[in-house]
Amino acid sequence: MQDLQAYTPGEQPADKRIVKLNTNENPYPPSPRVIRAARTFTAARLRLYPDPVSRKLRSKIAEIHGCGIENVFAGNGSDEILALCTRAFVEDSGSIGYFIPSYSLYPVLADIRAVCKNPVALGAGFQWRMPGGYSASLFFLTNPNAPTGILYPKAEVRKFCASFKGVVLIDEAYVDFSREHCMDLALKYKNTLVMRTLSKSYSLAGLRAGYAVGAKPLIEALFKIKDSYNMDALSQTLAHEALSDIRYMKSNVARIRKTRARLTESLNGFGFLVYPSETNFLWVKPFRISANQLFERLRERKVLVRYFKGPLTGDFLRITVGTDEDADRFLQVLGRIM
Ligand SMILES: Cc1ncc(COP(=O)(O)O)c(C=O)c1O
Repeated sequence: MQDLQAYTPGEQPADKRIVKLNTNENPYPPSPRVIRAARTFTAARLRLYPDPVSRKLRSKIAEIHGCGIENVFAGNGSDEILALCTRAFVEDSGSIGYFIPSYSLYPVLADIRAVCKNPVALGAGFQWRMPGGYSASLFFLTNPNAPTGILYPKAEVRKFCASFKGVVLIDEAYVDFSREHCMDLALKYKNTLVMRTLSKSYSLAGLRAGYAVGAKPLIEALFKIKDSYNMDALSQTLAHEALSDIRYMKSNVARIRKTRARLTESLNGFGFLVYPSETNFLWVKPFRISANQLFERLRERKVLVRYFKGPLTGDFLRITVGTDEDADRFLQVLGRIM
C-alpha cells in the first residue's frame, strides 16, 4: 500500500474567475425541482437515518428504464459503485480489465484491491479493438469513452458482452450527451451492468449520486457488501427530484451539444485535431504548440483544461464544454496564445 498511486482528481481552484473546463462538470444549475427540495429539506429528516436501500429513488430509476427495483443499485456517486464491483466480482486471484486510455480511476481501484490489471490498448484513433481470447474477471467499459469522447459501435459492445466470461460494467457517465446507449444490454445479459451518474448531465457532481442497472444476482452482490447507509437522505431525495425532471436535463444537454459543435468548428479552424465527441468534453490535439505547453499557457491566463501526461495521452488536451460565454472566453484566450 505504501507504493500505491492515488487517483488524481481534476483541480478545484479557489479563484472563481477561472474558466473551469477541466473536470467535465455541467455549467448549468440542476433542475429547479432539486433546488426547491433542498430548500425544504427539514432538520427533522436529518435526525433520522436514511432508507438503507434507497427504495424511492430506485423505484424512480426502475420506472425510467422499464425494469424492476431489484435490477437497480443506487450509490454514493458512481465511483462508489466501481469500487464495490472490484470487491464483488473479482477473486483475489482475478483481474480487472479496461481500455487504455479510459477513466484513470480503474487502475487505481485494481491496485487498491491488489489484483492484476489487464488493460487493452485501443486501436488507431482510439477506436474499439478487442483482442480475440481476451479474458478478465471484470471489465470496465467506458462508453462513450473518456477522455477521448468516442462512442464505440454498439454491435461490438453487444458481441463483447455476449461472449465475455466475466462481468462487464458499461460506464455510461456521459451517455446523455451521446446518440446511443446500451441500457438494453444490462437487461438482456446476465453478466452486464450499465452504470450512470447524476454528476454530468444532471449537474449534480457535488451531491454524489450514481446507479447501476443489471441482472438481480449482480445487484444483490453489490447490496451484500455496501455500507449500511451508502446514500444519505439528502442525496436520495435530490437525486429523485433530478430524475423526475428529465426534460430539464435534456434541455441543458441540447445547449451543451450546440456549444460543443461550435467549439469543435472553431478549434478545427485553428488547425487542431478534434475527435468527434459524444460527451460534454472534447479530445483535442493542438497544432503548432504542444499540448503541455498550451495547457500551461491557458492556465497562466486563467483557463483551466485537463492534461494527462504519458505516451498515449500526452499529445492531447481534454476540454470540457461549458457555456457559450466560457467558449467565447476560451477561444479569445486561445487566439491570443496562438
Ligand atoms: C468515466 C467516468 N466514470 C465515472 C465517473 C465518476 O462519476 P461520479 O461523480 O458519479 O462518481 C467519472 C467522473 O469523472 C467518469 O469520467
